[in-house]
Amino acid sequence: MATTDHRKKYLCHHGLLLPKVALSEESIQFSMAFEVQDDDIFAVTYPKSGTTWMQEILPLILNGGDLTPVQTIPNWDRVPWLGGPRAPLVLGDRPPPRVMVSHWPYHLMPPSFYTSKAKVIYVTRNPKDTAVSSFHFHGMASYLDDPGTFDQFLDKFLSRQVIYGKWTDHVKSWRNTDIEGRILYMTYDAAVFLQDLRAAVLRMAQFLGRELSPDILEKVVDHCQFNNMKTNIMSNYSLVPKDIMDTGKSLFLRKGTTGDWRNHFNAEQEARFSAIIKKEMEGTSFKFPWDDE
Ligand code: A3P
Repeated sequence: MATTDHRKKYLCHHGLLLPKVALSEESIQFSMAFEVQDDDIFAVTYPKSGTTWMQEILPLILNGGDLTPVQTIPNWDRVPWLGGPRAPLVLGDRPPPRVMVSHWPYHLMPPSFYTSKAKVIYVTRNPKDTAVSSFHFHGMASYLDDPGTFDQFLDKFLSRQVIYGKWTDHVKSWRNTDIEGRILYMTYDAAVFLQDLRAAVLRMAQFLGRELSPDILEKVVDHCQFNNMKTNIMSNYSLVPKDIMDTGKSLFLRKGTTGDWRNHFNAEQEARFSAIIKKEMEGTSFKFPWDDE
């Protein structure tokens, strides 16, 4: 049963638990009525799958490697959340192409999105690492429920008692769309190492119709590496007051790697988690880099 504290922290929208700090009834209304334009670009993720990374990479690809926005504008205003309270304030007079991030599942995008030509980059991350990242995030973000033990948190994660619902529902919603041709599927895992980040940036640039010279490509890749992004105060959430995000408990840009789940899951948890994800993904034909781990 929901406690008063839980009700204070979350709202429920189409069965999804959403954090009140990041969304309100008004901001959701704005999102639902949002007039999507053909040149809009959305980076869509399930939480803790690389959203902040996209807020760094995409402006640089689109502006030819000019570091000014990523060094002077906080990520939440630079590439706002569709659904968040900053979107109405910062998108107003922004020249096209407008870039936004979103955690909405496919069916909760604004109606005008489906008939537009807007492009989508959908980023997926190994669900085990996503769960680990989310566990630490719940430990540091006072506006989310305390995660409890890792074992307790895994149960919540697997039973949709976390923000934006189940990982499997989110991934399936975006993999079964009728917007083929204007959606690019990326994985966090395939971009994490340096060579792969270069390839990932190139793929995104190509998808967005941007050509990057070798020098600019190197500049973008260098700036967007974990260790460099980690020190960018416009992107590492250190501007957020400590009573909202306690970086003494965990950094937002925490480890930035793949396979950290091995340091958290025991054998029983791994077997339980894998069996549930496998069952829920039954009947789908998507292949992920972590499937054969
Ligand atoms: P970890 O907690 O595993 O470190 P989101 O932005 O969707 O909330 O995702 C946050 C996760 O993406 C965190 O994972 C964070 O460290 C990671 N991340 C952000 N920028 C990154 C980068 N440049 N390289 C690798 N990982 C990055």
